Amino acid sequence: MSALIGLVVVIVLILFLDWCYKVYKRNKQLEKVPGPWPIPFFGYKLPTNIFDFKHMFDELIGKYGKTCKLYIGESLHIITCDANLIEQVMKSNVHIKRSKSYDMAKPWLKDGLIVSAGDKWKQRRKLCTPSFHFSVLKDFFTLFKRSSNTLIERLGEQADKGVEIDAREFISKFSFEVIAESSFGTRMNVQNDESLDYINAIDKYTKIVSTRAFSAWKRFDILFKLFSEDFKTHKSSLDVIDGMSKIIIQNKRDECENMNVDVGNVPEIKKNTSLINQLMHNAKLPDEGVQEETNNFLFAGYDTTTTALSFTLFELSKRLDVQEKLYEEIKSTVNNDYSKLTHENVYSMKYLDQVVKEMLRFRSPIPVIERILEEDLKLGDIIYPKGVTITMLLYWLHHHEDYYHDPEKFDPERFNSDNPQPPTFAYVPFSAGPRNCIGQKYALMELKTVLTRIIMEFVIEPVVGAKLELGLAMVLQSKYGFPIKIRKR
Ligand code: HEM
Repeated sequence: MSALIGLVVVIVLILFLDWCYKVYKRNKQLEKVPGPWPIPFFGYKLPTNIFDFKHMFDELIGKYGKTCKLYIGESLHIITCDANLIEQVMKSNVHIKRSKSYDMAKPWLKDGLIVSAGDKWKQRRKLCTPSFHFSVLKDFFTLFKRSSNTLIERLGEQADKGVEIDAREFISKFSFEVIAESSFGTRMNVQNDESLDYINAIDKYTKIVSTRAFSAWKRFDILFKLFSEDFKTHKSSLDVIDGMSKIIIQNKRDECENMNVDVGNVPEIKKNTSLINQLMHNAKLPDEGVQEETNNFLFAGYDTTTTALSFTLFELSKRLDVQEKLYEEIKSTVNNDYSKLTHENVYSMKYLDQVVKEMLRFRSPIPVIERILEEDLKLGDIIYPKGVTITMLLYWLHHHEDYYHDPEKFDPERFNSDNPQPPTFAYVPFSAGPRNCIGQKYALMELKTVLTRIIMEFVIEPVVGAKLELGLAMVLQSKYGFPIKIRKR
């Protein structure tokens, strides 16, 4: 017996020494990269809430410069807002694997497009791409316009009351309605509902996922299940989220059986291109496959645009000058008649384009993305070893003085083509390269259409004393919400 215990102790010791040697080798290889004490688990006191994550990265970048190394639990991260390093990762066909942080979202996103890797990712990307092709956007435009009309009615009621509102409360329902209808052929009419459990569930779930991703111990499923007070909320939110995608899929199956038709039968959308049709009919994925992609696209299409639009209204409330310039451009483009708004003239508005671009820089909806290096990556005289996680700080990239003059100023003029433009990889709110955002054109069209409509109808006014503190979950967060006031023009 004692011989057996002795053997186990020797094996554990050998494994431990082997691990220590690997840590030592990596640290040696990266000794030119600055950072806190490079010791797994104990090198740096990690924050525990999403608002302190923002402070943590501010502090790291302030202290060590654009790139540093940091252990999160046992995992070594290269934290960077260096456009050159980000370019090497983003444009590569090799470094397209997500990091372990994304595993925290797997109970929800499973192995869908956002998280998958290898051949599965390639097949799914190919399958979903036609549903977001430029030519399909014309069809979506009609839906964006229709849902914008309902949003205007809801905001109009608040304008009549003259009350302070949280922009996100209204925008989230709008965005959800739009993605459910455009990609899944499901008219939800949620803007007329008091509340939508799905929206609350996504909000809670994504915050928990992010807190786990930056925690040394909550990353481990077993420890999270046993010791975290968030586990119960995690589970109940997931039930609500899964419930919603199941409803969408079942509705579609019933519809097809009853009417003997293709799925995705919103009249404005060509049936063969809708996402749900691609998944269910063309690729004939089993229900689990359809559900994982439904969850992926409902999240990607809903939370990002909600965040972008909520920040846009909040920031514009402080900038009446920008609103007036936008209003003049829109008026002259559609001749004061919203029915004349086409998807072509949405594209033609230059100042609108500058405002949206600047918003996506100033309040980058996805502030951080990560990849694992699949092979060594050499940049200058540093070799970043295979297996490390590259944490790309898009928010900090977009706020770095090396790339932007006066970066804390919201200034749409910086994207006026007469002015010098930032280096290509210093502006990547949708990422870039083979794993960029599949919904980029869709998102831009949605943002521009609804913003045009809002600016035509209302002046957005600030709430006196409104505070802003930013936090990092899967999307950028605002601790005190998005308080604004709305006045009819
Ligand atoms: C303002 C809105 C949006 C922003 C800022 C945004 C940004 C991003 C970013 C930064 C990525 C990560 C890429 C990477 O890791 O390199 C991404 C991926 C993705 N986005 Fe978006 N996105 C937005 C809207 C949308 C919309 C509307 C959809 C769908 C309708 C969408 C679908 C996706 C999907 C499926 C992925 C994963 C792509 C892959 O891994 O192949 N996004 N997005």
